[in-house]
Amino acid sequence: MTFRANHLLGIETLGPDEIVTLLDLAESYVDLNRAGNKHAEVLGGMTQVNMFFEASTRTQASFEIAGKRLGADVMNMAMAASSIKKGETLIDTAMTLNAMHPDLLVVRHPHSGAVDLLSQKVNCAVLNAGDGRHEHPTQALLDALTIRRSKGRLHRLNIAICGDIAHSRVARSNILLLGKLENRVRLVGPTTLMPSGVADLGVEVYDDMRDGLAGCDVVMMLRLQKERMDGGFIPSEREYYHRYGLDTEKLAHAKEDAIVMHPGPMNRGVEIDGLLADDINRSVIQDQVEMGVAVRMAAMDLLAQNLRASREAA
Ligand code: NCD
Repeated sequence: MTFRANHLLGIETLGPDEIVTLLDLAESYVDLNRAGNKHAEVLGGMTQVNMFFEASTRTQASFEIAGKRLGADVMNMAMAASSIKKGETLIDTAMTLNAMHPDLLVVRHPHSGAVDLLSQKVNCAVLNAGDGRHEHPTQALLDALTIRRSKGRLHRLNIAICGDIAHSRVARSNILLLGKLENRVRLVGPTTLMPSGVADLGVEVYDDMRDGLAGCDVVMMLRLQKERMDGGFIPSEREYYHRYGLDTEKLAHAKEDAIVMHPGPMNRGVEIDGLLADDINRSVIQDQVEMGVAVRMAAMDLLAQNLRASREAA
């Protein structure tokens, strides 16, 4: 097994071998999670602290379940009630926690780079659960596992990532991961929602859904991230749905067996038709949620192994 990383801050610094190691281990956790007894004690005696400075349903629940199934003591910090509200800096909060000897710190923060900064100040493994528009590595890994299980491979696939790319850390981590494993990634959306520097990402860019989806194996939809928009990026939600919302008619331009993905939370009738999202013959959205727990178990397992090794060496 090859997994060198001491933190999981982003996909950018992971090698393709580390990605495959993590996904292979996650497969075994998919089986465990479907079993009657869902416990493995690989994090026994360890303390996991979840610090979410931004709203989260899936990601936080998934990290909590993952830690508990692996036998860690899991604490969710109520960030709204923490001293951050009294003016304490992120680093001071982290240093305070660090003094309580956590082993795994799971952090979501609205600022790009905040989780990386924090990882330099603590003596434990840090997992990025989403930092600003920067990265959301466990989301990209769970998407990769979902694709690999559904398509039987994770290379030479045509994958369209559609919608609000500019504000999306999910898109960024996915572009990096899928590129490292030699897939062809297309970004589809209005030019106002494309990130600057898109030409350097090694992707094809389309502003028309029908052209962008033609011949695709995977169609990944993204939420319109209104909380990150400070102006008129789209004319109206109705107009957006008409041009960019995924429905069966637009999906018909992709391959016949193309799968539909969405990281959630979904805005039905904005970026995706509700019935299509629920169509278990096309949509793998619930599989993504299932894979999320397994991938987070694998990530924490591997980081804990490296943490133990580095502590023994010290
Ligand atoms: C995403 C996020 O928070 O980055 N959600 C998630 O983690 N599943 C995507 C989003 O908020 O639209």
